[in-house]
Amino acid sequence: MRAIRGATTVAADTPQEIRAAVSELLLELAARNGLKPEECAAVILSNTSDIRSLYPAKAAREAGFSASALFSAQEPEIDGALALCIRVLVLAEGDGKAAHVYLRGARNLRKDLGKFSVALDGPSGSGKSTVAKILARELDILYLDTGAMYRACALKAAEAGVSPDDEPAVARLMDALDLSIEYRDGAQHTILDGHDVSGEIRRPEVSMAASKISALGCVRKKMVEMQRKIAAEQSCVLDGRDIGTAVLPQAEFKFFVTATVPVRARRRYDELCAKGFTVDYSALEQEIEERDRNDETRAISPLRRAEDAELVDTSDMSIEEVVAHIRRRIQERV
Ligand code: DC
Repeated sequence: MRAIRGATTVAADTPQEIRAAVSELLLELAARNGLKPEECAAVILSNTSDIRSLYPAKAAREAGFSASALFSAQEPEIDGALALCIRVLVLAEGDGKAAHVYLRGARNLRKDLGKFSVALDGPSGSGKSTVAKILARELDILYLDTGAMYRACALKAAEAGVSPDDEPAVARLMDALDLSIEYRDGAQHTILDGHDVSGEIRRPEVSMAASKISALGCVRKKMVEMQRKIAAEQSCVLDGRDIGTAVLPQAEFKFFVTATVPVRARRRYDELCAKGFTVDYSALEQEIEERDRNDETRAISPLRRAEDAELVDTSDMSIEEVVAHIRRRIQERV
């Protein structure tokens, strides 16, 4: 008896998607193992709990596996599990080597089976960090907010009374920088000189200072080194300005996420108000334009779309739509 494993994913929980994915998976599994559907003694399926619209076993019967003993069950809800996933175990006569089949990202998206990086670049307020966070959770991989690292450098300079215009003084600070990124309960914490500054670096005045200090070569060199080291160790989604162009030009997936200035200003306004900051909308709009200018015109690694990055304009899209779009793109190509 041979036990052959397989898995696939669906882009959405619809009967059509499930039928198509199960049929593709089982026919591929049968073909690669030299089996006819009727030679599969048992087809045991399971699905993640976000699949509710059709039993995968029913889809298997419709796909021609009606002679097999069919069974499907829902998997427990496990934090960080791959979303919208269907797994199968096929039992068939014979003792040849089993060719296991993983389709539509079900293999590569598992961090224990394949490592990959997703670069999400774009201007502030484009929604990329919210998207990156959700995407990383759904794919069960690390999320690295690289902007937080530049923000920490800006905070360090401000605390030391060093102006971002004074490059030699900033370079001295960088030599002695004690910055680390830690993860607790899946959330990124930015630790500067032994203190958790994750809240402080979100202050509005740190935003502009981060944009200025991030133009300096001595700062970028240090941050890019840290980012590459983190990305080399595990699959991750990185959000920033230069991930696809400079930090990880070889990233497997690259997206440039943007939106119009008024849309971005409104989002930042709502976000800051929700955090209790008092903000003036038009000042925020001006600040966003100025930050864009700084980030786009700096000499080193300016904000721009990598030639091979897909442009995603989120002006008229909800966060859920952007996440679903990007996840679909990833699943199509792995
Ligand atoms: O994404 P953010 O707003 O937290 O980033 C703060 C600043 O840091 C931003 O104005 C530009 C800079 N930055 C950068 O130059 N490169 C990155 N990879 C990320 C951020």
